[in-house]
Amino acid sequence: MSDWVIDCQGLVKSYQDGKSEVTVLKGLDLQVKQGEMLAIVGSSGSGKSTLLHILGTLDKASSGTVQIKGVEVGKLSRAKQAEFRNQYLGFIYQFHHLLMEFSALENVAMPLLIARQPAKLAKQKALAMLERVGLSHRAEHKPSELSGGERQRVAIARALVTEPALVLADEPTGNLDKQNALKIYELLAELNRDLNTSFVVVTHDLELADKLGRSVQLDDGKVGELEHA
Ligand SMILES: Nc1ncnc2c1ncn2[C@@H]1O[C@H](COP(=O)(O)OP(=O)(O)O)[C@@H](O)[C@H]1O
Ligand SMILES: [Mg+2]
Repeated sequence: MSDWVIDCQGLVKSYQDGKSEVTVLKGLDLQVKQGEMLAIVGSSGSGKSTLLHILGTLDKASSGTVQIKGVEVGKLSRAKQAEFRNQYLGFIYQFHHLLMEFSALENVAMPLLIARQPAKLAKQKALAMLERVGLSHRAEHKPSELSGGERQRVAIARALVTEPALVLADEPTGNLDKQNALKIYELLAELNRDLNTSFVVVTHDLELADKLGRSVQLDDGKVGELEHA
């Protein structure tokens, strides 16, 4: 078993854009330890979302290898990838992607129900995770009845409720004001400490990146040490 939760070697990703080909990732190497928290910064269009999608088995690399928990995920069938995501990965997006017709509690319980856990247990775990993000008093509320920051907290609870090895977050506070963004980053750092979940968090905000353990920069298709101003 590998020590790395993420071990990426020589990752290349090209898109066909009409007749021309655009190469976004150009032989990128990245390693993340279990329990580590990594911020990836980079300007808009540098390939941050592309990288997260490949790490999350939602997109395929053109070449190179991606091992998550020692499993070469690019080689799994689509069905096995879906199973792998449900078991080992959590996702947090800029837009919460909550199901609007369901309560906060039902939204958080959803990944457990998909994993075929009994409904009662799923509900208990979902409530405990909502408590963890400070929202147990909002359990029965629908997303439309919550503030932007509260919705992101529900989305975080949903990502963590299955106790994934790795959570991938793509600009998780891109929709929030600075004050709420800082609170979300503090919450992520706290969950990382308490649960030993690994996090890879993409942001273009250097100040927010500084709240996490390690920061790297995605530039010209590769990951390098962050150059501080
Ligand atoms: N499906 C796609 N087809 C073609 N080009 C794409 C596709 N997805 C992303 N790109 C291009 O890849 C580059 C990186 O995009 P993205 O990963 O979304 O950057 P970031 O998240 O850092 O803003 C951009 O130039 C974008 O236009
Ligand atoms: Mg993006």
